[in-house]
Amino acid sequence: MSKSFKTFLKHTAKDFHNQSVNPPVVRASTIIFKSMQHIRKTQAKAQKNPTGGHYDYGRQGTSTTHILQKILTKLEESYHVFTTPTGFGSVFLAIFSVVRPGDEILVADPVYSPTRLLTQDYLKEFNIKTIFYDPSDLKTLEKNITKKTKLIFVENPGSNSFEFQDLGKILSIAKKKNLITAIDNTWATPYYFKPIKFGFDMSIVSATKYYSGHSDVMGGSLAVNKKVFPKVKAAEKITGLRLGPDDAYLITRGLRTLDVRLDRHRENAKKIAAFLSKNKKIKLLYPYKKDSYNFRMWKKYYSGASGLMGLKIKAKNINSVRKFVNSLKLFGYGYSWGGFESLVLHQEFRETGNRKYLNLAKDEHLVRLHIGLEDPNDLIADLKQALRHLKW
Ligand SMILES: Cc1ncc(COP(=O)(O)O)c(C=O)c1O
Repeated sequence: MSKSFKTFLKHTAKDFHNQSVNPPVVRASTIIFKSMQHIRKTQAKAQKNPTGGHYDYGRQGTSTTHILQKILTKLEESYHVFTTPTGFGSVFLAIFSVVRPGDEILVADPVYSPTRLLTQDYLKEFNIKTIFYDPSDLKTLEKNITKKTKLIFVENPGSNSFEFQDLGKILSIAKKKNLITAIDNTWATPYYFKPIKFGFDMSIVSATKYYSGHSDVMGGSLAVNKKVFPKVKAAEKITGLRLGPDDAYLITRGLRTLDVRLDRHRENAKKIAAFLSKNKKIKLLYPYKKDSYNFRMWKKYYSGASGLMGLKIKAKNINSVRKFVNSLKLFGYGYSWGGFESLVLHQEFRETGNRKYLNLAKDEHLVRLHIGLEDPNDLIADLKQALRHLKW
């Protein structure tokens, strides 16, 4: 019987040995073998089948991390998924696996600001040059490809500014030039878009966000195709970037309700977007208005939208934006997103980074909202009272 993914998530990872509906948390540094021959046999199996969950030491994982990797591999429809202690660990692992001194990489201008720091500043010290391209003008991508270009790193939509790119075009450019492609797909997760199936070589999701869904754990996932698998496997071994079993368990638990939660985040966000889109002083950064390029690019590639959106607010005085943000009662002020709760964050330079293509006028301010699982009518009422503090 073929099962839909929604059903698979509810029925996977049962522990028939212990008669438990959930898998055990296996914590181990040392893994015990019955004999000298047994350890060698296991190592031979691991060599023959490197994705098969054969371990000789805890740094390679335990059955608990393997279960999570298997679930994610199915969700991603990828060759394999590596799991890391944070989402940013997966960003690092993806880039570290494939770029070497002398290489150049092309990175979407609105990437997550730590990804910008890593590529723009840190990699420079290793003689790796980064060029940022305009997400809305892929000519800036194409014209900057040189003989040294190795990787295109996309984040979609843009971090905090929410530009949607023409992903198909990026892949066709990459294919023509034989470049490796990676995408940060944290906003959508493979529930709404499957990058590896679509043709990307690597896909990153911060499991800290929607996968875990409860704001109590950090983790990352890096899905890969067969082509880049050996490089990432080698880099994983050398960096020791591996998720611990307790965190793997929590993320597996979160995944059981990924579809239910994301469906609700989407519905709630749509209602909030409908409310906010009526305000003439606010530009909604979310795929809601049908006539925009961003909407068309989202519609072309995604089957849904998550709960994270931006507001570009036109206001002469930052104090009034501050008042709006501070007077929200149901939106907590803080980093991260993807949990059950609503959050708000004013986007300053620290969040956006030193972007080349972010055109923000002096009287325009970016505010990010994460729409949680609360009753959307309560969220709208809260926004309504807080918006009264905005002075245009
Ligand atoms: C788009 C995106 N990618 C990656 C990360 C990094 O994930 P983590 O916080 O789990 O390291 C974040 C964190 O906010 C993010 O927003």
